[in-house]
Amino acid sequence: MNENKTNINWYPGHMAKTKRQILEDLKLIDVIVEVLDARIPISSQNPDIKEYCKNKKRVVVLNKSDLADENETNKWIKYFKEQEIPAISVDCNSGKGVNEVIRAVKEVSKENQEKFSNKGRVGKSIRIMILGIPNVGKSTFINKITKRKTAQVGNKPGVTRQKQWVKVDNEIELMDTPGILWPKFESQEVGMNLAFTGTIKDDILEKTEIAFELLKFLLNNYLDNIVERYKLEKQEIQDVLQNKDVDENDNYLEVLNIIATKRGAILSGGRIDYEKISGILLDEFRSGKLGRITIEKKE
Ligand code: G4P
Repeated sequence: MNENKTNINWYPGHMAKTKRQILEDLKLIDVIVEVLDARIPISSQNPDIKEYCKNKKRVVVLNKSDLADENETNKWIKYFKEQEIPAISVDCNSGKGVNEVIRAVKEVSKENQEKFSNKGRVGKSIRIMILGIPNVGKSTFINKITKRKTAQVGNKPGVTRQKQWVKVDNEIELMDTPGILWPKFESQEVGMNLAFTGTIKDDILEKTEIAFELLKFLLNNYLDNIVERYKLEKQEIQDVLQNKDVDENDNYLEVLNIIATKRGAILSGGRIDYEKISGILLDEFRSGKLGRITIEKKE
């Protein structure tokens, strides 16, 4: 993770400046490639994205799809399609989906390209820019789509800030720096979703709180994954969760204690090491060791 990028502090002045710059850059762009985290497609979306995409073609990249539940990703693809936005499931580690994004960019540009060639501007490149909040995989995606080529295709005159264009293929040019947008700050739920995936850093919210909320979500939605990973007795866990004698949170805490014991997250004197088990849970979720999990479901 690039520390400088992820430690960006978003404050209103900075947001306004970023927005101005991106709106300026977008004047040169034919297609916006919006990168989202497939596990949280709505929470990982910048709140102003509609404004940026006004009068622009857009392709959505549902990135990190290797970590997301495939069925859920397919539902999200359908959701975007219903809004006439092509969305593609991408895994930047393997490169899966990257060529499909290139095809989608060409497809959405077809009509405009034809208009240009009718006007005699044959061979005009399709210019694209990558937009997204920090940590969704913009840089990784750029490296993949350009096959790590650093060759420039020249700066264009009449532009105040120097823009570097990287050739994707004979038809597409990419603005080499992505537009880094700020995340939503709209609700505790969105904040938690961004924290689960590590999109916002653990020091913003308490790590133990994030892990506890994540465990609650997983026990309600992906119980089998938890049972399998931590070699638990499913019936025992279900019994704990259904105990009506105590507060619901106490039941979740008991499951957390069981997992901590299994994993040896115990301090001297036998107390549970909540820092340690929280770290384990978050790391294992984020690295996919708990299986392919989607936090935000499209029902
Ligand atoms: P950004 O430019 O949008 O800020 O994101 P960047 O490319 O730096 O990617 C953030 C992290 O996400 C990187 O991990 C990167 O390897 C990972 N990543 C990007 N695309 C994918 C993908 O399709 N699947 C998976 N599983 N991971 C992906 P990192 O450098 O190790 O950072 P971190 O793990 O410490 O957060």
